[in-house]
This record gives sequence, structure tokens and C-alpha cells, in this order.
Amino acid sequence: MTLEEEIQKRRTFAIIAHPDAGKTTLTEKLLLFGGAIQTAGAVKSNKIDTATKSDWMEIEKQRGISVATSVMGFEYKDIKINLLDTPGHQDFAEDTYRTLTAVDSVIMVIDCVKGVEIQTEKLMEVCRMRNTPVICFINKLDREGRDPYELLDEVETKLGIQVRPLSWPIGMGKGFKGVYNLYDQKLNLFTPSQRKLKDDRQEFENLEDPELDKLIGVNNANQLREDVDLIEGVYPDFDVNEYLDGKIAPVFFGSAVNNFGVNEMLDTFIKIAPAPKSRKTDVREVMPDEPKFSGFIFKIHANMDPNHRNRIAFLRICSGKFERNKPYTHVGGPKPLRFSNVTQFMAQDKEIIDEAFPGDIVGLYDTGNLKIGDTLTEGENMQFIGIPSFSPEIFREVINKDAMKTKQLEKGLKQLMEEGVAQLFTFDMGSRKVVGTVGQLQFEVIQFRLKNEYNATAEFAPMNLYKACWISSKDKKQLDEFIRSKNRYIARDKDGKVVFMAETKSWLQMVQDNYPEIEFHFTSEY
Ligand code: G4P
Repeated sequence: MTLEEEIQKRRTFAIIAHPDAGKTTLTEKLLLFGGAIQTAGAVKSNKIDTATKSDWMEIEKQRGISVATSVMGFEYKDIKINLLDTPGHQDFAEDTYRTLTAVDSVIMVIDCVKGVEIQTEKLMEVCRMRNTPVICFINKLDREGRDPYELLDEVETKLGIQVRPLSWPIGMGKGFKGVYNLYDQKLNLFTPSQRKLKDDRQEFENLEDPELDKLIGVNNANQLREDVDLIEGVYPDFDVNEYLDGKIAPVFFGSAVNNFGVNEMLDTFIKIAPAPKSRKTDVREVMPDEPKFSGFIFKIHANMDPNHRNRIAFLRICSGKFERNKPYTHVGGPKPLRFSNVTQFMAQDKEIIDEAFPGDIVGLYDTGNLKIGDTLTEGENMQFIGIPSFSPEIFREVINKDAMKTKQLEKGLKQLMEEGVAQLFTFDMGSRKVVGTVGQLQFEVIQFRLKNEYNATAEFAPMNLYKACWISSKDKKQLDEFIRSKNRYIARDKDGKVVFMAETKSWLQMVQDNYPEIEFHFTSEY
């Protein structure tokens, strides 16, 4: 197969959802359709059990298990699908944000009873930053949910993206009869079943066909006719390019657990979802069909066992062919790297592979050379961009409790930050070190790992901080002046970028008003 054919064959995406909306269930059904698994229940939820929520060791263990399912590859109708898993626990939201930098599109699952929830809003913000194409799956139609029109409105207003239903539900909950596929005008009748994989859709060229009344009852048929008229009148024709530009999200309705509406979405997905796209670097845009390999690291998973300090770095291939044992340039690194242990993930299995293509995700065994955001190339000196850090939500000052182990503490902190466990900010004044995270759990994780893996003892003192804002200005003099006058609140991130540490929301607002020429950013890339 040519490189171009390999590229066109691939679809790399992630499913995003608020916990409990049905991400694991949908993943499992997709794998069943892809023939990658044979039985329901084979996919382990990466949702953290509430019973073990406070026990981070248990959580890390579960996360460890989920390495194997971090990427699930399967084939469906000659398309190679790479489905990237995203952590369910919100304390690991940073992981999810970074995973989204490695995909070409996203399927968003929304619970029809609960509507758009907070985690979905945050994830969608990340998608919008990158104009990632989104397909929306409104799930659990077998339950008495909210009115479909209301749900669509909520998606538009809360998620800031226009929607275009491509299927429409007939009834809901106990009265749920099925969905009508507006895209290819087929009716799919509902029979609750967890195993149903066969395609038993019925086609209706004309909704006026009296057969429809017999099938779903006169009331339902009339309602459907009315709804379809309304939708076709209100929504413009579906334009696939608008979807690809991230401007319009096609919407499907269904019930993942009953395997209903999944098949239609998957069929449409392989037709419209983008194959691997070009990616920006600091010097130029890289096309996937360029013959030379390039890729970036978006996730590092450490081994929790201190006797095996190896890590798995997840590489997204952006161009060319990646080959095992070939030396590649580690941009910004001291020496070229070659990888003999390259893993690809197929459903629940891992296998050592010799080559991989754009869109593929491979796991590289690493002994500490790689960090998140690193670029590998076949010689060219360029760095992929768009793998930002987001402002953490909880900040604590690092207190070294063993002065004899200062070096170990610094090394440990550096390596853990490279893995993306949390972010480190160092204040200009007094070199105070502050760790920022999106959840409480990480502090326990860091403390434990510092002790066990680096023999360093640290404590974390609470700090009154609201946000870390990366600052910039067109006017360098003004920026320097700002840094001087706000010296007490200025810190550096891991790359040495200047960050303003705002104590409260209202104070930040005041500072923003007082310094209109300074721009405040909540992500490290702007
Ligand atoms: P998540 O990964 O997004 O967190 O959600 P997950 O798939 O684990 O689903 C959360 C719960 O919602 C599960 O129930 C699952 O069975 C249920 N669910 C998923 N899809 C549907 C659907 O279409 N209709 C209905 N009625 N329920 C659905 P659970 O009780 O938490 O777990 P389980 O014991 O059923 O596995």
C-alpha cells in the first residue's frame, strides 16, 4: 500500500463525555462492530469507582491497567480506526486535554436526561481551540429524557457550536420507537438488545408512505413527519466541510447500551470523519504524506513499580513512515533516539510492530529521555505546536522537608512534571516552587512518588491562588514594566515562560483593567 493509501485508510479520534454519559458503553459497541472484541463487558471502564475515589494508589493501579486500552485500534469496513481513550476522572482532565491534541476528530456523548454537563463544556473548549470536528451522540434514549429540540438548543448555547441533526428520535423512554436517519432516509426501529449487530434498517423514500403508520403508529408517524419538516426547514443542509472546519456538529440519537443508533453513527463517521490532517510546527505546516517521518509525544505513562523505572511514551505519527530501530532526531534533545520496543494497541492486545503510519499512535519504551510535547523527526529541526498547558486550578507550595535530598527533590519534580502529572511554577522572588494541578489527588501522587522513587521528602502548603496566566504584550517595554511592578506575583513555567500568578478572580479583573496593553492567557500557547 502507498503512504497515501495508508493515510486515507486511517481515522484517529477520541470519545469525550461527562462521566456516566456512556463513553465506555459506546466504546465497547464500536469495538464489537469492528470485530475487535466478541463479548459485551470486555472493555473495562476507566471511570474511577466512587468507593476508591480517595485511594489514589487504587486509581493509579486502574490507570495502569488502562494503559493497554489507552488506544484501541480496530478495522471497520476497510478503515483502520484508532480510538484514543480519555481518563474518566476529572482530576486527570489534563491527560484528556493532551489526548485531544493527538486526534483528528471527536465523538461527544451526551446523556439525554442530564443534557450538557460541566466536563463536556470544558472538553469542548479544547476542541474549539483546535477546530476539531465533533460528532455528537445523544445517548440513553430508552430513558425519559429531555425534549430533543431543547437538548439541541442546549448544545448550541452551552457548547458554542452549531448543530445539525442527522438522525431524529421517535418517542423516548418507554415510548421510544426508533430513530429516523435524516442523512440516508432510513428508519431504524428499536428493539432493546445488547447483542444486536445486524443491520435491520428499513428504508422509506417517502415519509407519507402509509406503511410508516402501520410500523410506528399513526401518532408517532405524524409526529415524525412534522419533526422532519421542521428540521429540514430550520436547519440548513448538512455541509460536510463545515463539520470538517469544526463549525457544525452533526447529531445522532441512540442508546449505546442497547446498541441502538451506534451503527448508523459509525457508518456516517467513516464516511465523513477526517483522515490524518496536516499539523503545525514552529517553522512550517507538515503534511501527512511527506515521505519523512515526524511525530510528537502527547502522553507519558510511568510504571508505578519503582523497580522498573521505565515509562511508555505515546507517539502520534504526523507524517511519513515510522520504523522500529531507525535513529530519529529528538528535537532539542542531546542525541538521536532509536526505539526497539515499539508497541501498537489493537483492542485489548498489544503487539510489537515494525512500522506505523500517520494517524497511528504507538507506545515507545523510554528510560527518561522523552517528555510531553517532544517532537521526533527524520532530521528536521522543528517542533509541533498546539500541545498547550492549561492553567491549573489548585496550587500548593513545595516545602522541602529534607535539605540533604534537595537534588533528589529537584530531579523528581522535574521528571514528574515531564510526565505531565502536574505543572511547576517557580517564583522570580525567592525561587519558591509551586505545583499546580486540576485535582487534589495529584498532590498525594506526587508526594508518594517523590518519596518512593526519588527518596525525597516534600510537603505541600496550601496557597491562595486563583489562576496562572501566561502574559504577553506587543509592547515589550510595557511588559517589562509590568513584570517589574508585579514582581511578587511573577513566576516561570517549565519552559521559562513568564506567568502572572493571580490571587483572586476580582483582583485579576482589576489588574487586567489597569493594564490594557498586557494580554493574559489561560493556556501556555496563545
Ligand atoms: P462513562 O464511561 O461515560 O462513564 O459511562 P458508562 O459507559 O460506564 O455508562 C454509565 C452508565 O450508563 C452505565 O450504567 C451504563 O450501563 C449506562 N448506560 C450507557 N448507555 C446507556 C443507554 O443507552 N441507556 C441506558 N438506560 N443506560 C445506559 P451503570 O449502572 O453505571 O453500570 P452497569 O452496571 O450498567 O455497567
